[in-house]
Amino acid sequence: MAKSKLWGGRFEANTSELMDQFNASLPFDINLMEYDIEGSLAHVKMLGKQEILTAAEVEKITEGLKDVKKDLEAELEAGTFDFKEAEDIHSLVEARLTAKIGAVGGKLHTGRSRNDQVAVDMRLYLRDQTEQIMEMILKFMQVLLELAEEHAETVMPGYTHLQRAQALTFGHHLLAYYFKLKRDYQRFQDALKRINVSPLGSGALAGSSFNLDRDFTAQELGFERACENSMDGVSDRDFVLEFLSVASNLMLHLSRLSEEVILWNSKEFSFIELADQYTTGSSIMPQKKNPDLAELVRGKTGRVIGSLNQLLLTIKGLPLAYNKDLQEDKEGLFDSVDTLQVILELYPEMLKTMTVKKEAMQQAAATGFLNATELADFLAENGIPFRQAHQIVGEAVLFASQKQKELDQLGQPEWEEILGDYLKVDADKLKEKLAVKAAVNSHATKGGPAFEESKRVIKEERKFLAQK
Ligand code: ARG
Repeated sequence: MAKSKLWGGRFEANTSELMDQFNASLPFDINLMEYDIEGSLAHVKMLGKQEILTAAEVEKITEGLKDVKKDLEAELEAGTFDFKEAEDIHSLVEARLTAKIGAVGGKLHTGRSRNDQVAVDMRLYLRDQTEQIMEMILKFMQVLLELAEEHAETVMPGYTHLQRAQALTFGHHLLAYYFKLKRDYQRFQDALKRINVSPLGSGALAGSSFNLDRDFTAQELGFERACENSMDGVSDRDFVLEFLSVASNLMLHLSRLSEEVILWNSKEFSFIELADQYTTGSSIMPQKKNPDLAELVRGKTGRVIGSLNQLLLTIKGLPLAYNKDLQEDKEGLFDSVDTLQVILELYPEMLKTMTVKKEAMQQAAATGFLNATELADFLAENGIPFRQAHQIVGEAVLFASQKQKELDQLGQPEWEEILGDYLKVDADKLKEKLAVKAAVNSHATKGGPAFEESKRVIKEERKFLAQK
């Protein structure tokens, strides 16, 4: 098919081949095909209702559009589609339509511009994708919650500065990510309100002289409402920026989790072992099992944030209304959507199939003086000012490490040597208090790692997920 142009009238010469290529967006906006046709179907229905087109014309165009969609789907499926056929998805569909039903196809564009058309397409696309992504986040949260429940009593070291800090549980650690993802879910939910607004009928920038019913098309397309200003309608890309910003935040969370998964899976930690399905080998070192999925997620985080930054920079400084720069809103968005969807599919599976090495976690939590704060708290409870207690426990840690013992391995005479000046000590009681499990369970503050507290939170969140 010859390359069709929508704007031949006032031109004497054709654009150069290279310019055509540079100008074209079809290779990527073909992604918008079904949404473009959906938007056109609503538009033509409205043109009929408003008696701008006759019922016969509407019928012809409607049937034609459905056929064009079928043809395009088949060609894309078969791999026979020619990505150079037209400048963009809008000109492609119109040319195909006219080829099918004749000149009446040209009436579809009555009262419409590609500027409002592309804005409609982008919003329909993004609404659809956002809803899918939200569903996937919920499934991910479900997996995290199940794992958190399974490991509500799996003791592990908690870290600050990547130094062992205080004992907690693996379940508590996973719950932290559950809540990060819950906020991401809510952010997408909120972004959806601003995505789901109809710019159709904004025209090129100044609306239309035709008696268009904008509320009708908005409703027909499932939008919450029609936008209030035609110039805003065609120039607004905040909804894309907002999506990319929320997506970046989600990726940051997954990147941090990935960093931890990579550490936990290392020989040095040995807290988990990832399943073969989600790791890869080395071409030279036969012993290796690399956490590639987690590494790629960490790596692709830069890519999604890059797309956000790219679009921020593209839009900065654009005068109203439409400028061709805005065509640059697509590739980074499509890429980010695809990236998120694959990751959200794979990641929960990787977590579900990992082996959790409880003994190694427990062992790590029992060594390294993670209960030093417990001891300081105990002294403070017995009237010693916390600052002084801190100093005394520091000395106790030094004392024990010189003997190559943990605090809960010290005997009565040793405790008397350390604490005798301050209080009466009972080594057995101290041993009980400083045991790892007891230490975790004493942290029963709201949102703390104590077994029962985590379980309470999990129960609450089950209710949240059940409502979704
Ligand atoms: N391919 C264009 C885009 O993605 C469609 C809108 C073209 N509008 C125009 N006035 N040239 O932005």
